[in-house]
Amino acid sequence: MAVPLLDLEPQLTPLREEILAAVTEVIDSTGYIMGPKVESLERAVADYCGVEYAIGVSSGTDALLLTLMALDIGPGDLVLTTPYSFFATMGAILRLGARPLFVDIDPATCNIDPAAARVLLADHPAEAARVKAMIPVHLYGQCAEMAPLLTLAQEYSLAVVEDAAQAIGALYPLPASLAHPTAPAVWKRAGSMGTAGCFSFFPSKNLGGIGDGGMVVCRDERLAEKLRILRVHGGAPKYHHHLLGGNFRLDPIQAVVLEIKLAHLPAWHAARRRNAERYHRLFAESGLVAEQALTLPEAVYQARAEAEGVADFHIYNQFVLRARQRDKLMAHLQQMGIGCEVYYPVPLHQQGCLADLDYQGQRFPEAERAAAETLALPIYPELTAAMQGEVVAAIRSFYQASGSGKGG
Ligand SMILES: Cc1ncc(COP(=O)(O)O)c(C=O)c1O
Repeated sequence: MAVPLLDLEPQLTPLREEILAAVTEVIDSTGYIMGPKVESLERAVADYCGVEYAIGVSSGTDALLLTLMALDIGPGDLVLTTPYSFFATMGAILRLGARPLFVDIDPATCNIDPAAARVLLADHPAEAARVKAMIPVHLYGQCAEMAPLLTLAQEYSLAVVEDAAQAIGALYPLPASLAHPTAPAVWKRAGSMGTAGCFSFFPSKNLGGIGDGGMVVCRDERLAEKLRILRVHGGAPKYHHHLLGGNFRLDPIQAVVLEIKLAHLPAWHAARRRNAERYHRLFAESGLVAEQALTLPEAVYQARAEAEGVADFHIYNQFVLRARQRDKLMAHLQQMGIGCEVYYPVPLHQQGCLADLDYQGQRFPEAERAAAETLALPIYPELTAAMQGEVVAAIRSFYQASGSGKGG
C-alpha cells in the first residue's frame, strides 16, 4: 500500500459543502479584498492564541517580513536566529538588508539552543550590540524553549518574533514570573509569548488554506496598528504614505475557509498526537530504536503537560525522526511508495545565496548533523493504523536488508 506524506482529500471531503457555500458567498458578495470575513478570522485566531490583536496577511513569509519591517529592522542590524529552519525565516531578515546571527540548535528538538545564544551574545559584545531582534522557530510543531529566550531578550532589549508557521496552537509552559523559572507555569500558545508571532496557512500546515495565507499576532496596540498600515503599502489615511509598506493582504476567500477549519483544529492536533504515539509504540516493537537505527522525536513538554492536563504540548506538523543511512532509507521508502521528506537538507548558513557573505566558514554542528539525519514521515490526522504499520514495516525491511542499520 502506498502511503502519501500528506493527503488533504480526507480532510476536505467532510467540509467540502460548507467550504463551497462560504466561498460562494464571498464570490457573490463581490467583496474580494479584506473586509468582515478577514476581520472575523482575525478575531477568531486572536482568541484562539490568547492575544489581543491578529493581522491577516498574504503568507507566513510575509508575516515575518512585515513584522520585521514594523520593528524597523534594516541594514546594519543583526537578528539572532536558528540555522535550521525553512528558508523564509532567514529570507525575511536578508530582504531588509539585515543579517542573521545564527545560534546552533538543541539536538533533542531541532529548536534554537538558548544556552548557546547566551554564550554567543556574552562572548561577542560587538555583535550583541547590533542585535535588534531574535526569531525563535517552533520547528515541526513544538515550541522553542521560550523562558530562557525571553529572559535573554529582556537583558539585551531584543524584540522577539516567534516564527510559529509550523506551530499554531502549540502550548509552552511559560513561568508566571520569568525571573523565577521554577514558578508555576502558565501554558501559552505559540506566537503569544514574544513581541509578535507569525503563522503560515500554507495548505500543508495544521491550519491550511486553499492557497497562501498567513497571520501576525501581537499584544501591543501600536504595533498592531503599524502592521495594519504597512499591510496596505503604508497608506494611512489611504493614499497618504508616511511609511513604506507593501501589499500583504489576506483574501476573504482564504479567511472563510480557514475559519471553518479552525473549529476542527483541536481534533486534528489530537489525531496527529495519537499518530505520533502510535509510531512510538510501533517503532519500539520493531526493535529499530533499540538497534539504534532510528531516534524518535522527543516531545519535551509532554510529561509536564500530561501531569497538568494540558493537550497541545506538540501539534506534530511534522513527525521527524533521525535515521542511520538516511538518504538510502529515503530512496528505499520512495521506491516503496512511502511518502517522506527532509526538512531541511541544507542548513541556512550553507545556502548558496549567502555565498558572498561571511557565513560559509561558520560551523553549526548540530544543525549540520540534523540536515544529514532527519526524515519526516506521514503524520496527517486521517492516517490510519494500517498505513502507519506499512510505514514501519517498510523501514524495518530496509534495515533488515542492510544489516540492521549499524555503522551507516
Ligand atoms: C518555519 C517556517 N517559517 C516560515 C514559513 C513561510 O510560510 P509561507 O509558506 O506561508 O510563506 C514556513 C512555511 O513553509 C515555515 O515552515
